[in-house]
Amino acid sequence: MAFTGRVSIFITVLVVLIFHGVRSLSYDDDGLPLVLGYYKQTCPLLEKIVLRQVQVAVFRDPRMAASLLRLHFHDCFVTGCDASVLLDSYGGIVSEKQAGPNIDSLRGFEVIDEIKYILEEACPYTVSCADILALAARDAVASRGGPRWNVYLGRRDSLKASFNGSNQYIPAPNSSLETLIANFRQQGLDIKDLVALSGSHTMGEARCLSFRQRVYDQNTEEHLYHRKRNTEFRRILRSICPKSGRDSELAPLDLMTPARFDNHYFHNIIRGEGLLISDNVLVNEDFEGEIKKYVWTYAFNQELFFAAFVDSMVKMGNINVLTGEEGEIRRDCRFVNT
Ligand code: HEM
Ligand SMILES: *[C@@H]1O[C@H](CO)[C@@H](O)[C@H](O)[C@H]1NC(C)=O
Ligand SMILES: *[C@@H]1O[C@H](CO)[C@@H](O)[C@H](O)[C@H]1NC(C)=O
Repeated sequence: MAFTGRVSIFITVLVVLIFHGVRSLSYDDDGLPLVLGYYKQTCPLLEKIVLRQVQVAVFRDPRMAASLLRLHFHDCFVTGCDASVLLDSYGGIVSEKQAGPNIDSLRGFEVIDEIKYILEEACPYTVSCADILALAARDAVASRGGPRWNVYLGRRDSLKASFNGSNQYIPAPNSSLETLIANFRQQGLDIKDLVALSGSHTMGEARCLSFRQRVYDQNTEEHLYHRKRNTEFRRILRSICPKSGRDSELAPLDLMTPARFDNHYFHNIIRGEGLLISDNVLVNEDFEGEIKKYVWTYAFNQELFFAAFVDSMVKMGNINVLTGEEGEIRRDCRFVNT
């Protein structure tokens, strides 16, 4: 009797274990190798520390919100969200910071360094730089009035950078719609993601170098309907950005509310007033109208934009992440551990 009793307990435990195993495996069915609360035990103050530091940085320099968001994007599109973008040139590494889309343009590295420094005090050797980038991007968006979302964590840091990858995978500001779609598809992102994530251009600035072609090239002349209004828009931009020179002069990506994360980006592009060619093609080159449908939806309903944006940010944050034993946890985000 005692024996069968023990056997049945044993079997019960086995069944529970197997069932539990199957259940926890099924959590991965949504394709997420990352989890919420990954550092709950090992670094309970993580999210508070990142939030505080992002708020301080944005208070000092409001544009930093945009810059931190873009940093995560430029990380994820090149060999995945693995903090490869943070590596400086050293030893065999050629930094992505020197690549065309990044040089004299990408910013926020000191903010990430500062966060990492504090985290190494609070919970040494624990939090990856890639996860810091994902959290900082979230807090940056929220700090400017945008949505807040739960960030899945557990990314690990790469052992290398890809200078070529940066030149190849980060879309250029004069990309055609076809190129943008192909570019996003390469990353596993679809048309809906392209439109929602382009909404990031509701804050931050671009250099004259990035929008000169858009304000001088006759081929980028907007739809006739907008011509009169756009003449004034171009005049302003031309005064900021002459035909040659003053390459690093800045203009806001969203002229209406440059410091707010809202849906005014979509109002702008509907009026033909996106700053970049890649913004305007979403409306001008979409012959099938699918993209236009999203653009108008987000322009009319900010809540729908925010919901779509959050979905796409989570998706982007999952691109080719390193987990488990892959990569490492860098001690200094600028260098691989020796
Ligand atoms: C759709 C293709 C995209 C293109 C062609 C593009 C291109 C650009 C360019 C050229 C700039 C200005 C850089 C400069 O002149 O220094 C810029 C700025 C920015 N981009 Fe994009 N981008 C794209 C998508 C995205 C995505 C997906 C995000 C975020 C998820 C993003 C976030 C930003 C932000 C926030 C800024 C302002 C940065 C600052 O002020 O420091 N962009 N982008
Ligand atoms: C990077 O691109 C350059 C020029 O396209 C090429 O010569 C070089 O071999 C590439 N390097 C790597 C590591 O792919
Ligand atoms: C985009 O800009 C680059 C660099 O300024 C230029 O070489 C290229 O011809 C442009 N492409 C198009 C399609 O205008």
